[in-house]
Amino acid sequence: MRRQCRWTCIPVVVAVVILCLTPAYLLLVKGTNYWGSGILHVKEEAPKKDIGTTRSVPPTGIRQEKTRINSTQQVSSEQSKSLDASPIAVCCMDLMNLDKDRALVMGHRRKSKGFLTIGIPFTPRSGGKSDLRKTLESLIQNTPSELLKSQVTIVIFTSALDVGFRQSAHAIVSSFPDHVQGSVLQLIEAPRSFYPNLSALGNSFLSGRVKMNLDNAFLLAYARDSSEFYLQLSYDLRAPPNYLQTIRNFIRQQGANYWVTLEFYPVGFAGKLFRGGGRDIQQLIHLLTEYSKEQSLGNLFVQFKNLNVQQRDILWRPPLFSQL
Ligand SMILES: *[C@@H]1O[C@H](CO)[C@@H](O)[C@H](O)[C@H]1NC(C)=O
Ligand SMILES: *[C@@H]1O[C@H](CO)[C@@H](O)[C@H](O)[C@H]1NC(C)=O
Repeated sequence: MRRQCRWTCIPVVVAVVILCLTPAYLLLVKGTNYWGSGILHVKEEAPKKDIGTTRSVPPTGIRQEKTRINSTQQVSSEQSKSLDASPIAVCCMDLMNLDKDRALVMGHRRKSKGFLTIGIPFTPRSGGKSDLRKTLESLIQNTPSELLKSQVTIVIFTSALDVGFRQSAHAIVSSFPDHVQGSVLQLIEAPRSFYPNLSALGNSFLSGRVKMNLDNAFLLAYARDSSEFYLQLSYDLRAPPNYLQTIRNFIRQQGANYWVTLEFYPVGFAGKLFRGGGRDIQQLIHLLTEYSKEQSLGNLFVQFKNLNVQQRDILWRPPLFSQL
C-alpha cells in the first residue's frame, strides 16, 4: 500500500501544487493574470492615460524621465480628474505679441536696448525672508547711477490676482521716483483676463503651480527683448557690489562656448541669465505656458537646459546673490 502511494500520490501532490501556485506566481510576480492579459499593468497605466499629466516635454534624457515620474506622483489621480475638465489655454492673450504699453503700470519703456534686464516677480512666495525694497536697494546702490541709467532695466511683475501685493508694489516702486522717471525701474501687471479659471483646477497646489508658471511667462514675454541679456531674480535675494561687472565678466569668460543659461544662484529659477531677444526665451515661455499644469517652474527650467543640450550647469561660485 505504502509503495503504491509513493508512485501515485507524489506526482498528484506535485501537480496540484504546481496548478495552484502558477496563477498566484503569474499574478504576483509577473503582474499578469492566469491568461496573461496583464491585469495589473493595465491597472497601473489606466489613470496615466486619462490624466494628461504624464505628457512630457519632447526628446530628452534621463533627468527628464525622473521629473516626469515626479510630477505624476505629485498629482494624485483625484486631482487629475479636474484637469480634464478644464483644458488650459492662456486666455485671450498672445504672449509673443504682448501689448507692453498696456502691461506697464508705472515707469517708461526704454528707447534703446540696454545690457541687462532684471525681472523680479512680486507674487506670494513661501518661506524665508522677503523684502522687495531691500532687493531693489541692493540692485540700485551697488551700481554707479550712470551705468544703471544706460545699461540696466529692472522690471517688477505683479498680478491682478494678488491684490495686496499689487498695492504694496505700487508703494515700493513709487518710492524710487528718479529711477521710475529714468526708465530704470518699471512696474508691470498681468490682468485677470490673462489667467484661466484657476479655481476650476480644484486644488491650491495645482492652481499655485499654474499661476507661478504663467506669471513668469508673462514677465519673460514683457522683458525678453528689452536688453542684450535677461536675469531672473527674486525678492528674497540681495545683489553685491559690482554685480553688474561680475555678470559681464562671466559672460565674456564663456567666449565661444555653447550655453543657453548661466547661473548666478544655484537654487530654483532665481539668478538665471538668458540671452535676450532670441529664441531661447521664446522657448522658455512656450514651455511655461504649454506645461504649466504638468511641471513646476524649477523642473521646466531643467527641461529647458535638457532640450538645448546644455550638458553642464555653468554656475558662478560662490553664488553672486545672497539671501536677505
Ligand atoms: C521628486 O520630488 C521630491 C519631493 O516630492 C523631491 O525631494 C525630489 O528631489 C524630486 N526628484 C526629482 C528628480 O525632481
Ligand atoms: C471658475 O470655476 C469655478 C469652479 O469650477 C466656478 O464656480 C466659477 O464660476 C468659475 N468662474 C468663472 C469666472 O468661470
